[in-house]
Order: sequence, then C-alpha cells, then structure tokens
Amino acid sequence: MSGKEAMVYVVRCGDETRCAKIYKEASKRSFRQAVDYTENRRVRNSRETRAMAKGTRFGREVTEAAWQSAEVDALYRLAAAGVRVPVPHNFCDGVLLMELVTDADGDAAPRLNDVAFTPEQARLHHATLLKEVNRMLCAGIVHGDLSEFNVLLAADGPVIIDLPQAVDAAGNNHAKRMLLRDVNNLRGFFGQFATELLGTNYGEEIWALYASGGLRPESVLTGAYVRASGAVDLGYVMREIDDARAEEAARRLRLSSRPRA
Ligand SMILES: Nc1ncnc2c1ncn2[C@@H]1O[C@H](COP(=O)(O)OP(=O)(O)O)[C@@H](O)[C@H]1O
Ligand SMILES: [Mg+2]
Repeated sequence: MSGKEAMVYVVRCGDETRCAKIYKEASKRSFRQAVDYTENRRVRNSRETRAMAKGTRFGREVTEAAWQSAEVDALYRLAAAGVRVPVPHNFCDGVLLMELVTDADGDAAPRLNDVAFTPEQARLHHATLLKEVNRMLCAGIVHGDLSEFNVLLAADGPVIIDLPQAVDAAGNNHAKRMLLRDVNNLRGFFGQFATELLGTNYGEEIWALYASGGLRPESVLTGAYVRASGAVDLGYVMREIDDARAEEAARRLRLSSRPRA
C-alpha cells in the first residue's frame, strides 16, 4: 500500500506476518513536517539543533531521522499506555516493523473510510475512539492527523495508526488546536452515519479536563461543553489568527513549489 508519506508492505518474519513501513523521501511528503508539529521536539545536541535550523544537508538528515523515530517512539509509549495501536517490533534504517492489523480473514484491515456503518456501529466506534484519544492524551500525546484514513478496522475493533507527526500535548502550543481537529474529524466521519453526533463537542470537553489536570483514561464524557464565561483572552485569539495565517502561507508555498504533473 502506498500512502501519502510511506510505502507499507506485508512481510514475513519467521512464522509471523508483519507490516513494514518505509518512509518516502522528505521532498515527496506533504504537510505534516510543518513546524507546528515539531515544535519543542527534543533532538540530541546543540550541533544538531543548529544544523537543523540552518537547513544544511546534515541538518536535513537529522530532521528526517527525528521525524521517523517520532513514530516508533509514539507507538512504544502508546502501546505501553494501553492505546490500540499496532505493536511496534523494530525500527532500523528507516524501516518500521510492526504488527499487521488484520480483519477477520487475516487480511490487512480496511481503513474506516472504506467501510460503511449502521448508526449503532458508528456510535459505538465513535465512543471507543474518543476513549482512545483520551487515553493518548493521558499519556501526553495528541495524534495530530487523526481521521478515517488513519484508523484501521481490525476484527476486534478500531486501531489507530500513522503517528510520525504525533504532538507533545504539554510542550507544543498547537496541541489544543490539533486535538480539537482530531476529535472533530471523528465527529464529522461518524456523524455521516449517526447524525446526532454532529451536535456534540467532545474536543473542548476533553481539553478542558486535561488542562485542569482532571483527565483520566476512565473519565466519563458527556459531549456537552459549556464555555466558561469571563474576559476574552485576546492574546490567545491573536495567536490563533497568526497560526492560521502562517499555516496558509506554508500551504501556498508548498503548492507553488510542487512540480506540476
Ligand atoms: N500496522 C498496519 N497494519 C495494516 N495496515 C497498515 C498498517 N500500517 C499502515 N497500514 C496501511 O498502509 C497505509 C499507509 O500507512 P500510514 O501509516 O497511514 O502512512 P501514510 O503516512 O503514508 O499515510 C494505511 O492507510 C493502511 O492501509
Ligand atoms: Mg496515513
């Protein structure tokens, strides 16, 4: 399977079938290496940090290695926290070896967007995935690109994949915006099958609990969120506007530098 940013293969390891993910060249990739995602990620030393900032060849190699290892790091942390992600087995020379997520026949599992759901199924999977988002946030991680394209439907329920852009919830200033987007993507997708979901506001509720230190993996969510009344944080509003402007400028730059077919 060739995804947006990687080639993924079914491979055999002894008696076991597994999945190998090989990242595409950085220049063939899309938006997710944007600064928003990598803000505050730690690298090894100041020489590497300087090289990354200058964009030298060495710097680009360091950026690339950091990007790839971010996915395997996130997988280990999330698997340890009990989140339903593929179990990672190894990461070597830019190849990530992990569990193959399978359907009832043992074939590679479909993505959510390849499946149609009854309203009950949609409600059930939506609730399951919100719990997973919750558990991820309790482990300090926001997915950052969660959607029907990055969730597989395994024989025993949804499994979350594709985490190189995963964001540090506490250290990244864009974490809230990304969490809201992730949760809204799930709402939009499952809302097609169970329209009452479209009226829910779980993202704000989850983030408010997290920010107050009260989020637990077993927290019960209502989907209703009452915004605190009080003075508007104008600085925050202005930062959001600046972020949106920077993101749009980066998008235009990417479009203009992309070779035409
Ligand atoms: N562990 C896995 N088990 C089964 N299929 C997988 C697994 N990981 C990825 N895939 C398949 O490969 C596709 C691309 O992988 P993904 O990690 O989403 O990379 P990309 O960045 O290219 O979107 C997925 O949409 C999915 O169909
Ligand atoms: Mg993907």
